[in-house]
Amino acid sequence: MTTPIVVVSLALITITLTTLCLPSAARASVGLKCDVPDRDTTLKVMHVYDKCSPFRPAKGGLSWEETVVETMRKDDARVVYLSSLVARKSVAPIASGRQIIQSPTYVVRAKVGTPAQTLVMAMDTSNDAAWVPCSGCVGCTSTLFATAMSTTYKTLGCQAPQCQQVSSAARCTGTTPTPSCTFNQTYGSSAFAATLSSDTLTLATDPIPNYTFACLSTVTGTSIPPQGLLGLGRGPLSLLSQSQSLYSSTFSYCLPHFSSSNFSGSLRLGPVAQPLRIKTTPLLRNPHRPSLYYVNMIAIRVGRRIVDIPPSALAFDPATGAGTIFDSGTVFTRLVKDAYVPMRDQFRRRVGLPNVTSLGGFDTCYNNVPSTFVFPTISFHFAGMNVTMPVENLLIHSTAGGITCLAMAAAPDNVNSVVNVIASMQQQNHRVLFDVPNNRLGVARERCT
Ligand SMILES: *[C@@H]1O[C@H](CO)[C@@H](O)[C@H](O)[C@H]1NC(C)=O
Ligand SMILES: *[C@@H]1O[C@H](CO)[C@@H](O)[C@H](O)[C@H]1NC(C)=O
Ligand SMILES: *[C@@H]1O[C@H](CO)[C@@H](O)[C@H](O)[C@H]1NC(C)=O
Ligand SMILES: *[C@@H]1O[C@H](CO)[C@@H](O)[C@H](O)[C@H]1NC(C)=O
Ligand SMILES: *[C@@H]1O[C@H](CO)[C@@H](O)[C@H](O)[C@H]1NC(C)=O
Repeated sequence: MTTPIVVVSLALITITLTTLCLPSAARASVGLKCDVPDRDTTLKVMHVYDKCSPFRPAKGGLSWEETVVETMRKDDARVVYLSSLVARKSVAPIASGRQIIQSPTYVVRAKVGTPAQTLVMAMDTSNDAAWVPCSGCVGCTSTLFATAMSTTYKTLGCQAPQCQQVSSAARCTGTTPTPSCTFNQTYGSSAFAATLSSDTLTLATDPIPNYTFACLSTVTGTSIPPQGLLGLGRGPLSLLSQSQSLYSSTFSYCLPHFSSSNFSGSLRLGPVAQPLRIKTTPLLRNPHRPSLYYVNMIAIRVGRRIVDIPPSALAFDPATGAGTIFDSGTVFTRLVKDAYVPMRDQFRRRVGLPNVTSLGGFDTCYNNVPSTFVFPTISFHFAGMNVTMPVENLLIHSTAGGITCLAMAAAPDNVNSVVNVIASMQQQNHRVLFDVPNNRLGVARERCT
């Protein structure tokens, strides 16, 4: 990446990190309640840097601008991964000059086994399966699930019907004596080997017996979330399919703002307690990629003006994978170039400030913007639903007023991406409802408290 990196004020992250890095005894004494149990069918959703997250960076970790650049780099890997999914070709690992920080974006506490062992797993709406780092795993770096300690743990054999659903050419390559369902898979810039297994998964207070998941035995690279991944896609091995009787393929989340340690979000499972009044748009199904949540984005508005975007840049095409998806694992919204460039140009015109500069992968940044300056809103128009994002969903800035950037980008240069990804920064402080039985996705503004 040759983009110049602008030196910005570190005030925001410095303050946040000092409060985050107290040892646990000190944390308890300042009254942070991290062990509050999840209730009913609602799980607390934390940003990975939340004060209660085990993955918050250590003191002396990354500076603000390094965090932004690293986040973009991880997003690049994510977008390459999503593009490979829609193009149905295998993923080329991405070379990275530096160690990418190991962190999913949003995490929830899940309990696996009997008695239950708690793991802080990453939420991923674009993946079906759950992955759990298991005891003996080579290359795993965090808390592992001790399979021998669970009385309900089982491995699945190659003949198990679920094994046929593992989309991997390298299936059942494991050696006897136990012909268990082993397979290899890539994810972002990582690869793993796993054994398909089952055990009780407990989310909030609901136990799901015989839950099928991938028990990780070897991990390379740094993209795999350290304590595992909870896939919220809608394919055959997904949580939705496996908990059909419990949650009827319905869930919603509210993602807390990444720089607000005061708010915490929620993952609400099942049709009960979902918002009744919510704007919705039809979910589209791509038969080649049944797990992805496609919607029909028809226009983008900057301020009051509809941006002139060629329809082909937004059109849904199951054959090529083109279209628009909602994704919880990408941080900053990525649009195909033909959609991003006109939107960005309209945003710049509307802002009207000189001195457009860049930071990491962001190409529309401004220095020393007066605090009274009013930025335009941006609206995504979907079939039947317009979502207007306030500036908190559009801009990132350092608190000392150094630099403000439009927090979206075009797909990375090295990818011939056809998919527009509505990412977590643009979903923060909204309730996003995934209602599969009624084939709709809803969005409503909500403070995640
Ligand atoms: C689920 O697992 C239990 C043992 O843990 C077993 O008795 C039961 O038959 C299993 N149910 C199904 C549907 O596989
Ligand atoms: C699967 O991964 C394991 C461990 O990394 C490796 O030893 C094995 O060769 C891989 N198998 C295939 C078919 O890629
Ligand atoms: C943080 O949350 C508490 C209660 O949850 C509230 O009283 C307080 O005003 C909040 N602080 C900020 C800065 O929003
Ligand atoms: C913006 O650019 C103008 C002219 O190029 C320059 O005079 C001014 O100092 C710049 N302002 C900032 C904040 O960089
Ligand atoms: C979205 O906004 C456009 C105008 O910007 C309007 O024509 C359209 O009816 C709106 N759609 C919905 C569903 O509100």
